Amino acid sequence: MSALRPRARRAPLLLALAAALLPHADRVAGGGGGGSMFGDVNISSILDSFSISYDKRVRPNYGGPPVEVGVTMYVLSISSVSEVLMDFTLDFYFRQFWTDPRLAYKKRAGVETLSVGSEFIRNIWVPDTFFVNEKQSYFHTATTSNEFIRIHHSGSITRSIRLTITASCPMNLQYFPMDRQLCHIEIESFGYTMRDIRYKWNEGPNSVGVSNEVSLPQFKVLGHRQRAMEISLTTGNYSRLACEIQFVRSMGYYLIQIYIPSGLIVIISWVSFWLNRNATPARVQLGVTTVLTMTTLMSSTNAALPKISYVKSIDVYLGTCFVMVFTSLLEYATVGYMSKRIQMRKQRFVAIQKIMSEKKMPAECAPPWDAHSLSKAGSLSRGAPPPPRHSLGGAPPPPPRQHGSLHGSVDRSGDRCRHLQEVRYKARDPKAHSKGATLESSLEDNPAPSLHTLHPTKDYGKFLGMTPSDIDKYSRIVFPVCFVCFNLMYWIVYLHVSDVVADDLVLLEENK
Ligand SMILES: *[C@@H]1O[C@H](CO)[C@@H](O)[C@H](O)[C@H]1NC(C)=O
Ligand SMILES: *[C@@H]1O[C@H](CO)[C@@H](O)[C@H](O)[C@H]1NC(C)=O
Repeated sequence: MSALRPRARRAPLLLALAAALLPHADRVAGGGGGGSMFGDVNISSILDSFSISYDKRVRPNYGGPPVEVGVTMYVLSISSVSEVLMDFTLDFYFRQFWTDPRLAYKKRAGVETLSVGSEFIRNIWVPDTFFVNEKQSYFHTATTSNEFIRIHHSGSITRSIRLTITASCPMNLQYFPMDRQLCHIEIESFGYTMRDIRYKWNEGPNSVGVSNEVSLPQFKVLGHRQRAMEISLTTGNYSRLACEIQFVRSMGYYLIQIYIPSGLIVIISWVSFWLNRNATPARVQLGVTTVLTMTTLMSSTNAALPKISYVKSIDVYLGTCFVMVFTSLLEYATVGYMSKRIQMRKQRFVAIQKIMSEKKMPAECAPPWDAHSLSKAGSLSRGAPPPPRHSLGGAPPPPPRQHGSLHGSVDRSGDRCRHLQEVRYKARDPKAHSKGATLESSLEDNPAPSLHTLHPTKDYGKFLGMTPSDIDKYSRIVFPVCFVCFNLMYWIVYLHVSDVVADDLVLLEENK
């Protein structure tokens, strides 16, 4: 500061010198008078005449009709539309037009409008306009304040400012990323009610201009519209203007980064249906990997969005993809489980066959529920059910000779029968056996146990009437068909539903 002082002290001296020299310089150039002369009109005297008996604290026509303030805007650029912060930032020329009769002057040739420096604003009354939904604003001051004033001889004043404003813009992201957002900027007088100031759009529907240079990475400006309204507050009624700009999201980014990858992940998960059922590591890995990839995709998509509680259209798509991927993993689990069950049955059947061929099956045991043989065996005395048509599959009927040779040894054949029945019994219901239930009780519960499920050729490889390869075969068709149908429905519905253009929208040239 101390270093500046001598210079500051010197400044008045320099100004005085300049003042002494300048008139001389002008006279030399042949300008014909002071620096503020235009022809033979003394501009300085006009400006000076305004300050005589002018009170800038009082609005024009005080006590009379309200001042009409016309507004126009020209949007230079829109730098961001943020979903997370729910706001948008735009850079624009903000122009206000009003008439102050106290600033009228006599029209002279060539002097119809005075363009004066922005400092002159400090000498006159200006409307106390503010932006209702502003979050942040910025006046541009390079190289000087970006502002001008023009005074028409009739007293009408044009004031233009360049502003950058971040205004809140509540967004509905229901149709994200096929959404269209209507962001608005509201203009109102802070202190003057409608009795003092009324705002209007100066040029009707053309009051808002948007530069062709406006470009956003994710949005296109569809158009804009203007509204004028009255706001009732406890302090009075205020005149308010609203400019609404409609943005339409370019979903190319989401198509490339999210929709296509997630669709491909779903398709990759179908590869599992073509792989061998025994290729467990490959199929499980494929299923788990695709499920995890979908999870990552979903979380990364939502990381860049606000934590809204409703379902967005992208959530519908990703959710469905996730379910598809998850279902194909479950499909393999089903196939694996069925294969396991069928394998177990086959093993049991083989075991029974082995026992039967090893120990020549006694005739009495051939139909295990035959009342005669059961009573002989001594283990079952009651509840003899009717013998089923088909005996134990694959068991050859014992030859009559064997029957004869075994006739004498009833006790031993009884043991064998019991053993065989136990094996059969195990094959049918291993759990009940392990729990200690007896064959008798089982027969009582189930008087006609059908062992046809043990048939090797017909039903052996099926579980609930399906083979594991059937499931794979059907899945190869059902999954793609479901996914294609879903895609058709999704795109038709959402592209149609989101295709809403606000009423009275002034579309931009490029969109016409
Ligand atoms: C113009 O007017 C100012 C005061 O209003 C005065 O000081 C100046 O001398 C005038 N210039 C001429 C050339 O008359
Ligand atoms: C404000 O407007 C409402 C109707 O829009 C009217 O009833 C009310 O009297 C007005 N208030 C003032 C102070 O003018």
